[in-house]
Amino acid sequence: MPNPRMCPSELLDRDLTGRHYIVTGANSGIGLTTTRQLAEQGATVTLACRRPEEGRDLAAGMARAGERVVVRRLDLGALASVRSFAEEVLETGEPVHGLINNAGVMNTPEGRTADGFETQIGVNHLGHVLLTELLLDRVRSSAPARIVNVSSCYHDVAMKRKGEVDLDDLHFERRAYDGWAAYAQSKLANLLHARALAARLEGSGVVAVSLHPGWVRTRLARSSFPLWVQNIVLRPLFRWRGMIEPWEGAQTTLYTLLSPEVENHSGAYFSQLGWYRDSGLNAGGWPMRSPNPHAHDDDLAMALDKHSRQLVGLD
Ligand SMILES: NC(=O)c1ccc[n+]([C@@H]2O[C@H](COP(=O)([O-])OP(=O)(O)OC[C@H]3O[C@@H](n4cnc5c(N)ncnc54)[C@H](OP(=O)(O)O)[C@@H]3O)[C@@H](O)[C@H]2O)c1
Repeated sequence: MPNPRMCPSELLDRDLTGRHYIVTGANSGIGLTTTRQLAEQGATVTLACRRPEEGRDLAAGMARAGERVVVRRLDLGALASVRSFAEEVLETGEPVHGLINNAGVMNTPEGRTADGFETQIGVNHLGHVLLTELLLDRVRSSAPARIVNVSSCYHDVAMKRKGEVDLDDLHFERRAYDGWAAYAQSKLANLLHARALAARLEGSGVVAVSLHPGWVRTRLARSSFPLWVQNIVLRPLFRWRGMIEPWEGAQTTLYTLLSPEVENHSGAYFSQLGWYRDSGLNAGGWPMRSPNPHAHDDDLAMALDKHSRQLVGLD
């Protein structure tokens, strides 16, 4: 595998004082690394955590280093929690210059969120749709601003399941549940969500994009195998096969948040090293055209956007 793409150092040295970013899933993996970097650059960061106690311990360490970090509870698997989180943020009156829809679960056993959605589409996509909509006016009024959806190369193919969104059966009620197909669907939905947002936000100064962070050594695979397999037994083999560390995994997120180049690519998909149906694309690209034809279907993007907003009680 080639070396991972890295964000230019001048972007990582930029002073972000006065900028406010919200990172979902900020207590672990890519979200935690992204948070630390933004805070080190002087930004204020809201850590949106399902388990705020872990977030608070991490934030205490960052605050001791003089960083401005706030922890708020957010469970994307419960719309009521998303609403309370958004209310708390809006009440502060603070601008929101970046919303990083990063939290996610992968290949979970069949299950439902508090609102009855299939777990992966519910947490990875629908929770983030409601969060984004509730904060959208604030993000617009903070422009220039960015919305970054952390998708995956598995929106294309996930363990041989081609990524598809079934608008008539988002929740696997009429088809047999398949954890990888559900993950692929949710990650394609992340990409389409960014595309629909970009169209709706054209001319507003708010850029919306999606990305694949790489195959990153985090806790994401815990529903698929015990993490000691990845972290100890197979770590050298996985690294050789392309698994990267969280710092490398945060590079695409940081680039899409900080690079002026991204302004010209609202709606686009940015990829770290990945695994695509066309292996010629495995080196990724900032930005890159997805090989999944559904990723370019604007009718599907707009239909999903409308349907999702209805499901979360908007529109
Ligand atoms: N790692 C990879 O190889 C890889 C590849 C492609 C895409 N991605 C994407 O990268 C993103 C970040 O994942 P990661 O690799 O950093 O994994 P991770 O270490 O497991 O982090 C996932 C984060 O999401 C949070 N989360 C899960 N369910 C939630 C919920 N209901 N409400 C709020 N937060 C919730 C987790 O909180 P808890 O700690 O409470 O569980 C955790 O903070 C995901 O969207 C994933 O799909 C990762």
